[in-house]
Amino acid sequence: MEKISVTSSVYDCSIVHLPKVHNRTGNITALENGKTIPFSVNRVYYLYDVPGGADRGGHAHRNLQQFIVSVSGAFDVLLDDGTNKKIVRLDRPYIGLHIVPGIWREIIDFSSGAICLVLASEKYDEQDYIRDYKEFGEFRAFTGSTEG
Ligand code: TYD
Repeated sequence: MEKISVTSSVYDCSIVHLPKVHNRTGNITALENGKTIPFSVNRVYYLYDVPGGADRGGHAHRNLQQFIVSVSGAFDVLLDDGTNKKIVRLDRPYIGLHIVPGIWREIIDFSSGAICLVLASEKYDEQDYIRDYKEFGEFRAFTGSTEG
C-alpha cells in the first residue's frame, strides 16, 4: 500500500457558530448533516458526570471526524497535530468545534455539571483510535503499509 502523508493541522479544526432560534421561552439549536455539521453523523454520544480534575480524550483518530458542543457548562479542548497546539474553550451551547482526523485531543477543566456532546462521523471502532502518543508521532509521519 502507498504511504499517505497525514497533513491535517490544528488549524483545520474550526469553531462553528451554530444557528440559534431564540424566543422568550428559551432557545433551540439544531444540528443537521451536511449543513451545520460538515460530515454525515453516524453516532452521537455525550460525556457527563465528569469528576472534578478528570481529563478525557488523550487519543487521536485515524479517520473519524467529530463535532463537539458544550451543551451545558464548560471545558477546554487541547488540539495537537504533532507540530502545533491549540486550546479551544467550549462554554456556549451554540458554539461547536469540528475536529478533523489525525489530531491528538485532550478534554480538560470540566466545570461542574458540564455536558460534552459529540457527533461523530463513524460508529465506534477501537481500531480507529491511536491511544499512545509515540504511536501518534509515527502515524503523523505516514499511514498505510510500512513495506517498500
Ligand atoms: P473514549 O473514547 O476513550 O473516551 P474519552 O475520549 O471520552 O476519554 O471511550 C471510553 C470508553 O467508552 C472506552 O472503553 C470505549 C467506550 N465507548 C463506547 O463503547 N462507545 C463509544 O461510542 C465511545 C465514544 C466510547
